[in-house]
Amino acid sequence: MTQPAPNPWIQKIDAYQPGKAKTGGHAKPVKLSSNENPWGASPRALEALSAAAGSAHRYPDGTAAALRAKIGALHGLDPERIVCGTGSDEILQLLPTIYCAPGDTVLHVAHGFMVYPIAARRAGAEPIAAPDRDYTADVDALLAAVRPDTRVLFLANPNNPTGTMIPASEVARLHAGLRGDVLLVLDQAYAEYLESPDPDGGLALARTASNVVVTRTLSKIYGLGGLRVGWATGPAAIIAELNRARAPFPISVPALAAAEAAIEDQAFVADCRARNRAQRQLLADAIGRLGNKGLRAIPSEANFILVSCPERGPLAAEALYNGLAERGFITRWLPGQGLPHALRISVGTEAETAGVIAALNAIADAA
Ligand SMILES: Cc1ncc(COP(=O)(O)O)c(C=O)c1O
Repeated sequence: MTQPAPNPWIQKIDAYQPGKAKTGGHAKPVKLSSNENPWGASPRALEALSAAAGSAHRYPDGTAAALRAKIGALHGLDPERIVCGTGSDEILQLLPTIYCAPGDTVLHVAHGFMVYPIAARRAGAEPIAAPDRDYTADVDALLAAVRPDTRVLFLANPNNPTGTMIPASEVARLHAGLRGDVLLVLDQAYAEYLESPDPDGGLALARTASNVVVTRTLSKIYGLGGLRVGWATGPAAIIAELNRARAPFPISVPALAAAEAAIEDQAFVADCRARNRAQRQLLADAIGRLGNKGLRAIPSEANFILVSCPERGPLAAEALYNGLAERGFITRWLPGQGLPHALRISVGTEAETAGVIAALNAIADAA
């Protein structure tokens, strides 16, 4: 019997593994596995979300004009050079399909975001991982890995799952070292966790350079991951291609309404930023105190911490993952991302952070 044959490059995709939400024995475990905002979303966004229910029978504005206007006003960007997507994921997935032919290469850092190799392979391109240095993007290694057939370079800054970041001067050096026909995608999913409105200079580059796109999301500090809203800005020519290739109605009516209200509530964002910083510090300090037992917190600029674990014993990554899960805390063990010795723990609320610290200490005491 003959059957439809998938493209061979699609079959090479290692499907995305989402963070787990359940663990045996706990009716309501604490989910610290997906870098969500534990404080939820702005009450104003939730109000707008409910109010939009009455418009469920109408198609949304596929161009997201009102949302783009608000994003443009907030960041000092031309709304004509913003495109919105079903999460920033939609935009990250589209870029290689627009700029790569089968057989081209897409570059990202080792220990980078899982979506980049998927996005490359969807386009028939080959993902290439450049080595990092102590869990941090290495600009020299990235530049050395560029090949004549490289079309796209993805850099999350801060990076997921490491939480590390390179400064604006390094981003500028990376851009200066790239050919003009290589698209530099600066993924700023976690940028709002920093004080600066453009912490790595990416937005400034996207305004002036012909080959830089910045992506952002409302899934992280804005707390709207379940609604799937993201956006990108860059040169008019690239935004035009994204508009050509994107889904016609990428964001639903309620998601648009909530996103517009969320962008307007910057007091909520500032509050979450401060709370995240405080809880992240408490968690990093607690892990630091377990340094004598082989744990190390990689310094993070985001809403999670990568923890390097000892090779053996109850604090080894898999054992620690299981130990925390038994105590009701779901974290992320990362063997599939070349980090079998590491756990990523998302920053939780004040109570969740106290809880996960107590659980870590209990496991370490028993070790
Ligand atoms: C680095 C990075 N980029 C993009 C995203 C995707 O965000 P979105 O929900 O907008 O698709 C994530 C989500 O985990 C991320 O960690």
